[in-house]
Amino acid sequence: MKPVYKIGTRKVAIIGAGFVGASIAYALALRNIAREIVLIDIDKVKCDGEAKDIRHGIPIMGTADLYAGDYVDCTDCDLIIITAGRNRRQGESRLDMTSENAEIMRRVIDSVKKHYTRGCILVISNPVDILTQKASEWMSLPNGMVFGSGCLLDTSRFVRSVADYLNLSTGVINGYLVGEHGDGQVPVWSRVTVGGIPIEEYCQCIGIEWNSNIREQIETTTRDMGAEIIRAKGKTHYGIATSVCFIADAIMNQRPTIVSVSSPLMGEHGVRGVSLSVPSVIGPVGVQQRIREKWAPDEYRRFFDAVEKVRGILSQLEC
Ligand code: 2OP
Repeated sequence: MKPVYKIGTRKVAIIGAGFVGASIAYALALRNIAREIVLIDIDKVKCDGEAKDIRHGIPIMGTADLYAGDYVDCTDCDLIIITAGRNRRQGESRLDMTSENAEIMRRVIDSVKKHYTRGCILVISNPVDILTQKASEWMSLPNGMVFGSGCLLDTSRFVRSVADYLNLSTGVINGYLVGEHGDGQVPVWSRVTVGGIPIEEYCQCIGIEWNSNIREQIETTTRDMGAEIIRAKGKTHYGIATSVCFIADAIMNQRPTIVSVSSPLMGEHGVRGVSLSVPSVIGPVGVQQRIREKWAPDEYRRFFDAVEKVRGILSQLEC
């Protein structure tokens, strides 16, 4: 299936109109990132209600044509966002949803393929790395056109945690996480800078305590943020919706950017056949390039642990 790299309709289809899908639709409409937004869900009554609720505010602020549709509306999209699947429950890891959500993803991809003409596929459903790999195999598009939000939200949480420790605004913190969107996430401390200054040097200059214990505390805070929110309110959806808006803007407004998202690796760091997050250039055709920058030995070790963990789960998946 040769996709047409035609850009211009700024049309987005969102499959799954639960809290995550509806929050994404609302954010895209409010930020005027998409011209046309179609919400698709098996629960058509709820989907229509979500679409109408968002749509009724658009005359006040927004211009998007937003409606509840069906898979037939997946034609001529710049971006198809898949949020379908059940949410993580309190006390669960994202991996606990693997077989259930992989079955749902299989059905979703089969339905998308019947009407797909072009555009990128962005996987949000969890476990996002596993489901990105499977969706990519099932769609069989050129590498990078199917990718997942991966560690983008984790990176945002990480930057927040570092900024809070240093009592600075997040804009001066530059850094990212690689690996699994889950317990196998790896902060690349060797690349974290504060106002362009390597963080360790910055802390020495300013006289702020900086050591492995502090790094571990920041890592734990970052890694547990999703579960903490689920304990408090039963689900997460705003943070991931913001992440999707950032990605959609890069794709639809052709503002290529660099973020750590999940896509099928093709030999980066010697890894193939598994989707994990590494810093990637994303633009109109999805992941256009993955960056092979150097990490510290311990960061490689943790990344390869995540590779083996995700590869092991993929090998046991029966769909
Ligand atoms: C999160 O961490 C949805 O997995 C996503 O909030």
